[in-house]
Amino acid sequence: MTPNEQVEQAKQFIEEEIPYMPEIGLILGSGLGVLANAMEDVTVIHYSEIPHFPVSTVEGHAGELLVGTIQGRRAMMMKGRFHLYEGYDAQTVAFPIRVMKALGVKTLLVTNAAGGVNTGYAAGDLMLIRDHINLMYRSPLIGPNDTVFGVRFPDMSQAYSERLRELAHTAASEEGIALREGVYAAMLGPSYETPAEIRMLRTLGADAVGMSTVPEVVAARHAGLEVLGISCITNMAAGILDQPLSHDEVMETAERVKESFLNLVNRIIGKM
Ligand code: HPA
Repeated sequence: MTPNEQVEQAKQFIEEEIPYMPEIGLILGSGLGVLANAMEDVTVIHYSEIPHFPVSTVEGHAGELLVGTIQGRRAMMMKGRFHLYEGYDAQTVAFPIRVMKALGVKTLLVTNAAGGVNTGYAAGDLMLIRDHINLMYRSPLIGPNDTVFGVRFPDMSQAYSERLRELAHTAASEEGIALREGVYAAMLGPSYETPAEIRMLRTLGADAVGMSTVPEVVAARHAGLEVLGISCITNMAAGILDQPLSHDEVMETAERVKESFLNLVNRIIGKM
């Protein structure tokens, strides 16, 4: 079966379960499942029910697709995403994006938990992703290009839409939320980085580091979706503070900022 046939089967299954087609797609990062509270009139589909859909294996990541409205806009939300470090290849990680596109999604809002590389940042900060550096050295576009999905050599010069970033800054100031903007570096993980790697990332121009998002954004841009990305800086990256990193800290910080994150996302979607 071709990748496109798999996308079609997943799409057909979901289509029969939902009352309307979504226009906005959202991916929730670690500990950010609270964003699901923004959604009304929700239909829940478990990943395990959807043909060809992978299943996420990480603590803090549910495996549910939610369809409903946010601020009156029709949205589809992935509660739980797939990571390369789980052993999935980049095509599998990006599969849901292609399904979203097939269902009519035009705009993708991706969120993630990330380590702060910029020493001016603090745990709990929210950062709009201006651009990324793909240090995973993987791409969901490797292999024969199916032009149903997009062109062979997609442009990445506006991977994160300037229009949506401006809108997000306006939304943040209306909510009284400080919003940083910076470059997200993607690493394979799952071990956190070494202090030397973090110094390297800073030299390369990164402000935050994480283990997700880039495969999905590459597939989204390939598919012509407009993308907005927000990182929750859950911890300062390795070697900045004199303390070890832990997934517990990541989850605790995400929990602490969930209210502002929720308000910000609500406000942004209201403006889309
Ligand atoms: N590094 C990589 N990924 C992360 C981090 C980090 O410090 N924090 C949350 N996700």
